[in-house]
Amino acid sequence: MMSYGYKPSLSEGAIKCPIFQTSTFVFKNALEGKRFFEVAYGLREKETDEETGLIYSRLNNPDLEILENRLCLWDNAEDCAFFESGMSAISTAMMEFMSPGDLLLYSKPLYGGTDHFINHFLKKLNIESVGFMAGESKEQIIKRVEKTGKGNRLAMIHIETPGNPTNAVIDIELCAAIKEYFSTAEKSAVLSVDNTYMGPLWQHPLRHGADLVLYSATKYIGGHSDVIAGACLGSKELITRIKGLRTFLGNMAGPWTGWLLMRSLETLKVRMDQQAENAKHVAEFLNLHPLVEHVYYLGNISMNGSPEDKEIIQRQFHSYGAMIAFDIKGGERESFQFLDNLKLIKLAVSLGGTESLAEHPHTMTHADVDPKDKAAMNITEKLVRLSIGVENHQDIIQDIGQALDRVTTNSDELHSARKLVPVG
Ligand SMILES: Cc1ncc(COP(=O)(O)O)c(C=O)c1O
Repeated sequence: MMSYGYKPSLSEGAIKCPIFQTSTFVFKNALEGKRFFEVAYGLREKETDEETGLIYSRLNNPDLEILENRLCLWDNAEDCAFFESGMSAISTAMMEFMSPGDLLLYSKPLYGGTDHFINHFLKKLNIESVGFMAGESKEQIIKRVEKTGKGNRLAMIHIETPGNPTNAVIDIELCAAIKEYFSTAEKSAVLSVDNTYMGPLWQHPLRHGADLVLYSATKYIGGHSDVIAGACLGSKELITRIKGLRTFLGNMAGPWTGWLLMRSLETLKVRMDQQAENAKHVAEFLNLHPLVEHVYYLGNISMNGSPEDKEIIQRQFHSYGAMIAFDIKGGERESFQFLDNLKLIKLAVSLGGTESLAEHPHTMTHADVDPKDKAAMNITEKLVRLSIGVENHQDIIQDIGQALDRVTTNSDELHSARKLVPVG
């Protein structure tokens, strides 16, 4: 992956792909320009061995193309399109595969921005949506779709698994079966999976029947909290359509973003492995802490979850990940006290970066989600979300421990009990 798709001989022998900070590319002659445009606009098929010509950086750019080819290797996808944000990858895919009058089926919980796009913007386009909760059976979900009276207009199924912020698990194969149920000889819905929480390492949705994998590349793929980007992967046919719309929306990633992400991909595995290892220690600490009421972590669900959830975790995930949420005893006051007293861990939204972050989903990332949905999905005032970074895990635990110590509760029993909790 690290050298894939780049030929040093085309760049003065530079060992690393340079930043092609250019808006346009010079054609050798007019005929070459004509032939590049024929392929770009689909006026003719590419000939065998014909390389896609570089035209203009809104269509393609070496930093973008090499990055796309490299991410394809991780997800074993035919093609990939990079965007300037995760939201632009998600919104472009939704706009390409749905038209006014269509129906979208989606899993709950979803990242708050995606939820907003579905429940506010898509509504304006007369695209209806119906959500289902993690844990619902195939029959229950089919009934939900049929109740809308628009099963014949089901154009897309969009899921997030595990779901942000509670690590709720959704079965991709079950969603593929629902897609089949509503397919006809003429049309089939597109099944897209937001794989941001697992990154390209810990879950491969295409293997389980998904048509598209979506990422906020801002998270694990970028990994250093210094770039906003998104990606969509799938078959050549579907990604060609997405790249077509991307060209006209103009929301492709630029060369500098492409270069940063190529650099990030080289350390993807070592970073993510370390983050997952750290998260195990943090979860163990939280599990024992008397001020912690419940810990939402895939490792916990794999032990104490329902038989269905345990089976999905075994089949779909290669790791328990590095995202943890927990209910603190109390509510917003106690959550905020904890967050305000963190020293090493930064109080910030986003996730997947090298540094650990903490936030309050109820009032931050998921502030805009319907209050009834929030309550049903355990996104309450007492929920705190942690993204575990690559720091020494003892430092992370020490910080969580000291911040919990500063939470003032009315219970003497808790105060004395927590003195017994080992830190580090
Ligand atoms: C699961 C998930 N999907 C999508 C997004 C949106 O990505 P971006 O912020 O890169 O637009 C986020 C952002 O937090 C996310 O957590």
